[in-house]
Amino acid sequence: MNDVSENYEHNNEEPKLNDRPNENLKRRSSGNEDEPSKKIHSHSNIVAAHYNHLEEKGLKERFNSPIFYLRNFNNWVKSVLIQEYTDKIREKDYGRPLRVLDICCGKGGDLSKWQKARVEHVIFADIAEVSIDQCKTRYEDLRLRSGRLFSAEFIATDCTKNTLRDKYKDPSIKFDLASCQFGLHYSFESLGQARRMLANISECLKPDGYFFGTIPDANEIITRFKKSQNRSFGNRIFNIKLLFNPEDEYPLFGAKYDFHLEGVVDCPEFLVHFDLFLKLAKEYGLELVYKARFEDFFKDFSGKYRDLLQRIKCFETYPAPPNRELIGDEKDYEHVKNYFDNMTNKHEKLGTMSLCEWEVATIYLAFVLKKCKSTLDSNGKQVYIHTEKTSPSTQK
Ligand SMILES: C[S@@+](CC[C@H](N)C(=O)[O-])C[C@H]1O[C@@H](n2cnc3c(N)ncnc32)[C@H](O)[C@@H]1O
Repeated sequence: MNDVSENYEHNNEEPKLNDRPNENLKRRSSGNEDEPSKKIHSHSNIVAAHYNHLEEKGLKERFNSPIFYLRNFNNWVKSVLIQEYTDKIREKDYGRPLRVLDICCGKGGDLSKWQKARVEHVIFADIAEVSIDQCKTRYEDLRLRSGRLFSAEFIATDCTKNTLRDKYKDPSIKFDLASCQFGLHYSFESLGQARRMLANISECLKPDGYFFGTIPDANEIITRFKKSQNRSFGNRIFNIKLLFNPEDEYPLFGAKYDFHLEGVVDCPEFLVHFDLFLKLAKEYGLELVYKARFEDFFKDFSGKYRDLLQRIKCFETYPAPPNRELIGDEKDYEHVKNYFDNMTNKHEKLGTMSLCEWEVATIYLAFVLKKCKSTLDSNGKQVYIHTEKTSPSTQK
């Protein structure tokens, strides 16, 4: 029996993955429900400490940030996902009050998106207590400003180790949507953590409910790494350094890399082998309905959500308006300069993103999974009714 078959917390099922034996697949921590003494064995506390110490940036500072447009573009992707899938649920049952799990919610960057989507109740969960406190404060501020707002719960816990359901005010709650934005990859430290995360996501999700999120694309990271001369690659705003030896087989879990992004992230993350993620997710009744790298996501939705792209300033005006400078260096705009030079109407302005920012945006992918219906087998055990017979294509 290989290492993957080790039994993890809350996992009494037979492992179904035929993985290669690998040191990195060994159990690393016992996975303890909120027991501080045992947390030292995991990266989770490094991640929590990092996010707990991230300073809140003022509006002025954000506007001058070298990742101003990247940040807005990421927000556009999240807004589109939220809008599209709340709409899909409402298409079937208009007027139904929507309940949501926002897992790895951070400081509540999506609060106003949930407000615009007119949801009824959101449970926000994150490992970083300081972020959860800020999320709560932002929620209260928004409520004061808006009058009416969805009701909310805030949970500070390691979602890769602890059972969220035990912490809900109503443990029988059923979610219509679960969202995990830029956070799922932290659970790919070990099989046990990925399982707990998926169990938390799926456990209270209604049949036909959606789970969507955004993660770095492991294939893209490996492709770029292979093109680079050493173990790290990046540009002046980001850097990725692999912390395992890629000459060996890639570990399925615990494939650690350091991700530095100007003023936002600077901590270890883990590659998510997407096919493996889908295989695991299937065990929790979740099936792929959509997957696209951000550049394809943009192609798919920029027509429908063009106004939003402009409203939240996803693109920089080129050439820069009088008395303003472009956010990046000259060489960051060669793509648009060539285009502009060939234009006949030189009064027209173009919208673009600096190459440095686009190189970060295109590392990510968005995915949407749907919860299957289930039935009981002859032993009274819940079994999922999968709609697809074969593995879905993972490449768009
Ligand atoms: C890049 S931030 C994204 C925050 C938010 N979803 C957003 O889009 O703005 C990643 C978040 O994942 C959280 N996180 C990382 N590991 C976690 C874990 N084991 N359990 C819960 N949250 C975790 C971090 O604390 C951080 O807030």
